[in-house]
Amino acid sequence: MAASMFNASLFLLQASLIVLFALRSANAGGLIDGFYNKTCPSVEAIVRETTISFISRAPTLAAPLLRLHFHDCFVRGCDGSILVNSTKNNQAEKSALPNQFLRGYQVVDAAKAAVEKACPGVVSCADILALVARDAVSAMKGPHWNVPLGRRDGNVSLASEAFNNLPTPADDIATLKQEFQALGLSVKDMVVLSGGHTIGTAHCFTFANRLYNFTGKGDMDPSMDKNYIAQLKKKCAPTDNTTIVEMDPGSFKNFDSDYYTLVSKRRGLFQSDAALLNDSETSAYVRLQASSHGSTFFQDFAASMVKMGRIGVLTGNAGEIRRHCAVIN
Ligand SMILES: *[C@@H]1O[C@H](CO)[C@@H](O)[C@H](O)[C@H]1NC(C)=O
Ligand SMILES: *[C@@H]1O[C@H](CO)[C@@H](O)[C@H](O)[C@H]1NC(C)=O
Ligand SMILES: *[C@@H]1O[C@H](CO)[C@@H](O)[C@H](O)[C@H]1NC(C)=O
Ligand SMILES: *[C@@H]1O[C@H](CO)[C@@H](O)[C@H](O)[C@H]1NC(C)=O
Ligand SMILES: *[C@@H]1O[C@H](CO)[C@@H](O)[C@H](O)[C@H]1NC(C)=O
Ligand SMILES: *[C@@H]1O[C@H](CO)[C@@H](O)[C@H](O)[C@H]1NC(C)=O
Repeated sequence: MAASMFNASLFLLQASLIVLFALRSANAGGLIDGFYNKTCPSVEAIVRETTISFISRAPTLAAPLLRLHFHDCFVRGCDGSILVNSTKNNQAEKSALPNQFLRGYQVVDAAKAAVEKACPGVVSCADILALVARDAVSAMKGPHWNVPLGRRDGNVSLASEAFNNLPTPADDIATLKQEFQALGLSVKDMVVLSGGHTIGTAHCFTFANRLYNFTGKGDMDPSMDKNYIAQLKKKCAPTDNTTIVEMDPGSFKNFDSDYYTLVSKRRGLFQSDAALLNDSETSAYVRLQASSHGSTFFQDFAASMVKMGRIGVLTGNAGEIRRHCAVIN
């Protein structure tokens, strides 16, 4: 598993350049607050109500809902391509290895169904997903931000693109920088958005190599706190494919700045978390938030989410308004 993630990262630079080229032409950048003021004034209330009703019953859905938006935007831009089901003739993004544990599609589908009832054929799935992700973060006591709207849905969703373009838990700092930069996101956006790991869980196999066999010699990752490794080993056996652990133990349901405290103590779960200490700008940010109880984290996160939400969007007459988020019209 770790090996295939590593392979995925080898393709990243090449694939990112192709994506960058494609995005330049597609990104009209024309999203605005209040896009549906006249055509669907209740959209935000409907999406919020639907999202809250799911999350209040299952709070662990919040993190995957945030991830859905992130995984949508990183592949072909924020065009709802992550939501599309595979068909007989097409392996869609959601079937790709890096997306195998994504969940929460039912929340987006329910929000879409409710919105369609109020204003049929008007609101894109890509916009609904951006709103759901925002509402999920807010529901975990995180920041709230205005989501500029007006995205349209894409008509292409390819598993291979997800495999090639999504960052992996094994990425080092240079790879992470390239991946974000290729999409127009800064180094600061990268360290800020990594803070989303304050909520959610991870499968043992995504970091087990750091505990048991880091360089293939039965060794541990020297960049992880030894005491933390000992704790994690009690939860994760070397070939454990099923166990999940909290990324921010004790407050995985609270969107807060604890992630930075953990990373600064060398207790980030993934190599891609630990990598943030390997660069002067990102490590300065980690230490600042850790030492100031996240003085600017919420406002930074809101700003970076808005920026991420603009990646490669289809606007105007491009794309379509899908009737069902899982099916291209
Ligand atoms: C939409 O409505 C809000 C609140 O009334 C207002 O602040 C905003 O300017 C409007 N936007 C557009 C594009 O009409
Ligand atoms: C997607 O839409 C574009 C433009 O609207 C069209 O040229 C293309 O053939 C469509 N692709 C698929 C797979 O439907
Ligand atoms: C550690 O990794 C090496 C190289 O991939 C492999 O040959 C070895 O069997 C692994 N050891 C354990 C204990 O899994
Ligand atoms: C974990 O998954 C791998 C690959 O699918 C499989 O070979 C292995 O037996 C699994 N290990 C356990 C403990 O289930
Ligand atoms: C940090 O950089 C050092 C030196 O280049 C490297 O050995 C180490 O693997 C890096 N750590 C991470 C977590 O990327
Ligand atoms: C998409 O796939 C899911 C899971 O297989 C299924 O439950 C859902 O009904 C499908 N959606 C549509 C609109 O076909």
